[in-house]
Amino acid sequence: MAGQIPQRFIDDLLARVDVVEVVGERVQLKKAGRNYSGLCPFHQEKTPSFTVSADKQFYHCFGCGAHGNALRFLMEYDKLRFPEAVEQLASRLGLEVPREGADDPRAQARERKRQEGVNLLELAASFYRERLRMPEGQSAREYLARRGLSEEVQRDFGIGYAPNDWEALKRHLSAREIVEAVQVEYGLLVQREDSGRTYDRFRDRVMFPIRDVRGRTIAFGGRVLGDAKPKYLNSPETPVFHKGRELYGLFEARQANPRLERVIIVEGYMDVVALAQYGIRYAVATLGTSTSEEHLSRLFRMVNEVVFCFDGDKAGRQAASRALETVLPQMIDGREARFLFLPEGEDPDTLVRREGREAFEDRITCASPLSEFLFDQAARGRDLARVEERERFASQVLKAASRLPRGMLQTVLLGELARRTGVDQSRFEALLARDEQTVPAEFSEEPATASAGPVTVRRAPSAREASLGLVARVLQLLVHEPTLVERLPAEDDWCPEGDGDAGLCRELIRLLRAGRYRSPQVVLAHFQGSAQGERLALLAQREMLIPREARAQELEGLVDYLVRHRKRQSPQEEFETLLARERGGERLPMEARRRLQELLVELKR
Ligand code: CTP
Ligand code: MN
Repeated sequence: MAGQIPQRFIDDLLARVDVVEVVGERVQLKKAGRNYSGLCPFHQEKTPSFTVSADKQFYHCFGCGAHGNALRFLMEYDKLRFPEAVEQLASRLGLEVPREGADDPRAQARERKRQEGVNLLELAASFYRERLRMPEGQSAREYLARRGLSEEVQRDFGIGYAPNDWEALKRHLSAREIVEAVQVEYGLLVQREDSGRTYDRFRDRVMFPIRDVRGRTIAFGGRVLGDAKPKYLNSPETPVFHKGRELYGLFEARQANPRLERVIIVEGYMDVVALAQYGIRYAVATLGTSTSEEHLSRLFRMVNEVVFCFDGDKAGRQAASRALETVLPQMIDGREARFLFLPEGEDPDTLVRREGREAFEDRITCASPLSEFLFDQAARGRDLARVEERERFASQVLKAASRLPRGMLQTVLLGELARRTGVDQSRFEALLARDEQTVPAEFSEEPATASAGPVTVRRAPSAREASLGLVARVLQLLVHEPTLVERLPAEDDWCPEGDGDAGLCRELIRLLRAGRYRSPQVVLAHFQGSAQGERLALLAQREMLIPREARAQELEGLVDYLVRHRKRQSPQEEFETLLARERGGERLPMEARRRLQELLVELKR
């Protein structure tokens, strides 16, 4: 039941199970020296880049970056939530999972409420499905038939119908003792501001349940049967639904093929479902938003190839440019991104019906690879016979190349740029290196870090290190999830000078803000070979027990705390600190430099 699982218990559990055994039950492993290796279960590969270390009790994939301890493995592989993974490990050892304050009535209430939310959405989904089969669902059945959706596909996607009634769902759920406030919280009822009255959000619509990767309904999209507006209505953001993160159809695609190799990202519900009906069961749709980094990192965990699908018009090309920007930092070797443009006035739904599966799949096969799209885009509207236009063309490609992780794609791209411009490839490489230099050149040895860092590093990493300092926890969050840097305040003066990790922390933040480093591996590669690199690697190896969705909040909380407890420095101290940073070779941000000027004037007085 409710309550937190005590950290002691988790530590103890991890000390007693063997990650090699846990992984070995699910993945074929071969002993390779001190470690074990096998084909990574988290992405498609033909040669093993997945290793499991018995000494360190964690797994790591050099291909996709998946890593963690036995708990993390169970969460990712068996798609368990953290407490469920703990339960599973504990039951292997015949242990009962203790809960803190299990008899605390507030914790019990919280747990009941969460469960209520989950059940509620499932109840609603089956209600909609049943209504589609009843007499009142006739017009919806006719509509679906008109749109050519087979019963099989309707079943696979759990499609239903919300009756034309202001309170049908409310009555159904309330009869099952679900309080109205919860129905409102999960977006099923709308509450009027003036009277406080509640009514069904979805009425007389075909209902598409949106499921998470484990198949649990987390939200709905509803389409009108005719031409009324709005055409689609979606659940609002709720405790379980964040639309910038979810992809419609991903669960169903994985159901159809657990060893999915590619996905195609389309715009609409109908597109996903129509493609599935024609046997193209690997389409997913963003929910009325553009493709986010989070969408992509989630997808690249499961497949190596992502095909973006766009309308052939101007808006489509703009959307493609945005997608390109988002995908660049994620293109580590072995991944592929392609861009498919449809004829104007068509969407995947209309096109696959008109042309059939084969023709549509031919289009996918012929879609532009990332490099081709990038060159086309940079050359668009430019007369490359002219020197200045060629310069702009090259700069645009180079800028994109600089956002790619170091790797084959970047190298090949520069080669192609050289071929197209007649400039030597080494010139472009030098330009890229120069841009990168501006960052690493600055992190000359900082005495504070050099002495405080390695002390911890030398000790063999184990699951049970002494607990981390606050700045180290910030570092750990950032190295696990570099994109969290966006959550930090513009100035980094919250980072306490006295902390041994402060220098490294500022360094890392500057690097991440420079924008090129989006995955832990690339960050680690950047610092490789330095004491700072060792420190970061150590932090990266420590298991993050904070679930992904809570990490941004954790980071903000830490920084808030640090801000609130920042030691007030005297002007003299502040001046000296800033000066020391500048003399240490750091390029101070604008605000800090302005502050330095101010202090100079103030102190002279
Ligand atoms: N969308 C939305 N709200 C709207 C219109 C669209 O959320 N009022 C989102 C839906 O996810 C929809 C997608 O944008 O599936 C694409 O919209 P559109 O191209 O207008 O619809 P189609 O997918 O073509 O839908 P249909 O074929 O049913 O007309
Ligand atoms: Mn359509």
